[in-house]
Amino acid sequence: METTKDIRAAELGEFMARCRTSPRPESHLIAILHKAQSLYGYLSNAVMDEVSEAMNIPAAHIWGVATFYHYFNLKPKGKHTIAVCLGTACYVKGAEEVLEAIKEELKIGMGETTQDGLFTLQEARCLGACGLAPVVMIDEKIYGGLTPKKAVDILKAYRKQR
Ligand code: FES
Repeated sequence: METTKDIRAAELGEFMARCRTSPRPESHLIAILHKAQSLYGYLSNAVMDEVSEAMNIPAAHIWGVATFYHYFNLKPKGKHTIAVCLGTACYVKGAEEVLEAIKEELKIGMGETTQDGLFTLQEARCLGACGLAPVVMIDEKIYGGLTPKKAVDILKAYRKQR
């Protein structure tokens, strides 16, 4: 019986096989890493090794590309991504206090994921909603006019929904 892991590995393998037929296979590296991330949610060392072997590209080069572009995740992400805006408008309206309250509530630092896999914490530079500062985005939803307490209450509501 085929497992989800096998299906994802097969899909990535097929994608890389198509890229290998191109005159410059290495030029498809970013597209391959995108494909791998969309299949697995993040780029593990094992997946990067697989890409290195299949595409005959040094692992150090793949690692360099994966760490250079901020949209590649090297660790598994939580079910919900919290982006705390630290842009100027949010900062002057107390974003730092909101961020501290979130970190304390979740017991994680920036870029980390909670142990239960529910939340990943990230920072953002202006989410385009400065009029609502300070702002936090959870997945695709914007929450504005936050105070540390309001932010913590929102997180508690997400926990209850699970
Ligand atoms: S600075 Fe935070 S939304 Fe613009």
